[in-house]
Amino acid sequence: MDKILIHGGRPLSGSIKISGSKNSALPILAATLLTREPCIVHGVPDLSDTNYMLQILTHLGAQVERASGTVTVTAEKVHSVAPYDVVRKMRASVCVLGPLLGRCKEATVALPGGCVIGDRPIDLHLKGFEALGAAVRVQAGDIKVFAPKLSGAVINMHGKFGPTVLGTDNIMMAAVLSDGVTVIEGAAQEPEVVDLANFLNQMGAKIEGAGTRRIIIEGVSELHGTEHWVIPDRIEAGTFLVAGAIAGKGVTVNRVEPEHVRAITDVLTRCGFPIKFADRSISILPNGAATALELKTEPYPGFPTDMQAQMCALLSTSKGISAVTDNVFPQRYMHVAELKRMGAKVQLEGATAVIEGVDRLLAAPVMASDLRASAALVLAGLKADGVTEVSRVYHIDRGYERLDEKLGELGAHVERVKAA
Ligand code: EPU
Repeated sequence: MDKILIHGGRPLSGSIKISGSKNSALPILAATLLTREPCIVHGVPDLSDTNYMLQILTHLGAQVERASGTVTVTAEKVHSVAPYDVVRKMRASVCVLGPLLGRCKEATVALPGGCVIGDRPIDLHLKGFEALGAAVRVQAGDIKVFAPKLSGAVINMHGKFGPTVLGTDNIMMAAVLSDGVTVIEGAAQEPEVVDLANFLNQMGAKIEGAGTRRIIIEGVSELHGTEHWVIPDRIEAGTFLVAGAIAGKGVTVNRVEPEHVRAITDVLTRCGFPIKFADRSISILPNGAATALELKTEPYPGFPTDMQAQMCALLSTSKGISAVTDNVFPQRYMHVAELKRMGAKVQLEGATAVIEGVDRLLAAPVMASDLRASAALVLAGLKADGVTEVSRVYHIDRGYERLDEKLGELGAHVERVKAA
C-alpha cells in the first residue's frame, strides 16, 4: 500500500486549480442510467470513487468512455442488478438505486457495508421509494426495490441528523420518471443536490426548488441525453484553504464557487486569517496561529462535516481551547487518536472534540482511516517537525485528485512512496 511522506515546516504559497466535485460527479454519473441517449459529463475528477462508479455503470450494461476529465455514458440497455462484489467498495453506490428504479421499475443493489465515520443507515431512502409505490425487501444482503409503476408522493427526507443528501438525490432520480408530482420536504440543500437537479432538468426532467428545503418534481415519461460541467469541489477547496491557514504564506484556490465555500471561509476568518475573494478564486493570507473557537457541523449551508477533521488539524496548534462538534456524523473522529500521536491535545466528549492548542506538532507514522481523516493527517504533517508518514493512502485517492502533487505545486515537500 502506498504511503505519503510529508516533510513538515515548508511554507506553502501560490495557487492551484480545484477539481470537479466528487460528491456531485457520483450521483450525476448514476443519473446517466435514466436515459438511453449519450450523456457527456465534464469535470469528473480522476479518483478511485469515480472509477468505481464507472465500473458499476459498465456492469449494469452502460458504455463508458473516459478522456481526461470528460466521461461519456451511453446506457442504451441496462439491467438492474448490482451485486456485492461490484458495489462493496463504495457506499455511494447506493445512489444507483433511484435511477434504476426510475428506469427499470426494479433494482437489486447490495447493501453498503460498514463505514468508519459512523452508522450510515439508508432507512430514509427506502421509505421514500415506498412512498413512491415501490415494494422494498432486504434479502441476503441485497436491497430489492420494485414497482409496477411509480406515483408521485409527499416524502420527508429529514432524519435525526438532518436531511440526507444521497437520499434526496435517490428520490429525485426515481421520481423524475414517475406519474404525477412528488414533493420532497426536508430536502438536503447541498450544492451537489442542486447540480444533480440541474443535470436532470437538462435531460428533460421538471424539478423546481433544488437548493431549498422543498423540492417539487413533476414526473415525465422519458429523459434524453445532455452535456454538463460538474461544479467545483467545495471540500477540496476548503481543504487547501486550511492547508494555507496551517502552513501558508498566501495560498489561492482557483475555479471555486465562493458561495459554496462561505461557511468554511467564515470560520477561517473567525480563526484570524484574512481571506480575499476574486471572481472564482479565494486567497488565504497568513496571520500566525489560529484563534481557538467553537465550531459545529451542520447540513448545508452550515459548516460541512466533510471539513471537520481538517479543522481539528488546524485547531491543534491554535491559541487556546477549541470545541468542535459534529452534528451530522457524531462518531466521525478516527483522526483524533492519530493527531494525538503527533502531539495534539484532544479530548473526545461525545460528539465534541475539545482541542487544547499546542505550540508544535511532531511528525509520527500515522494511519489514514477514511478520506477526510487522511486529509487532516496530511495537513497536520505540513506543520509538524520532522517527516510524517501517512499510510493507507488509498483513502486519500478515493476523494482528492492528485493531493500530493497539488501540495507540491504550492511548495510542500510531499513524497508518495509506492508499495513494493
Ligand atoms: N441518515 C439517516 N438515514 C438515512 C440516511 C442518512 O439517518 O437514510 C443520517 C446519516 O447517518 C447521517 C446524516 O443522516 O447522520 C446525513 O447523512 P447523509 O445521508 O446526508 O450522507 P450521505 O448522503 O450518505 C453525503 C456525502 C458525504 C457527506 C454527507 C453529509 C456523497 C457521496 N457523500 O453522504 O461525503 O459527509 O453527505 O454531508 O455525497 C465525504 O465526501 O467524505 C463524505 C463522507
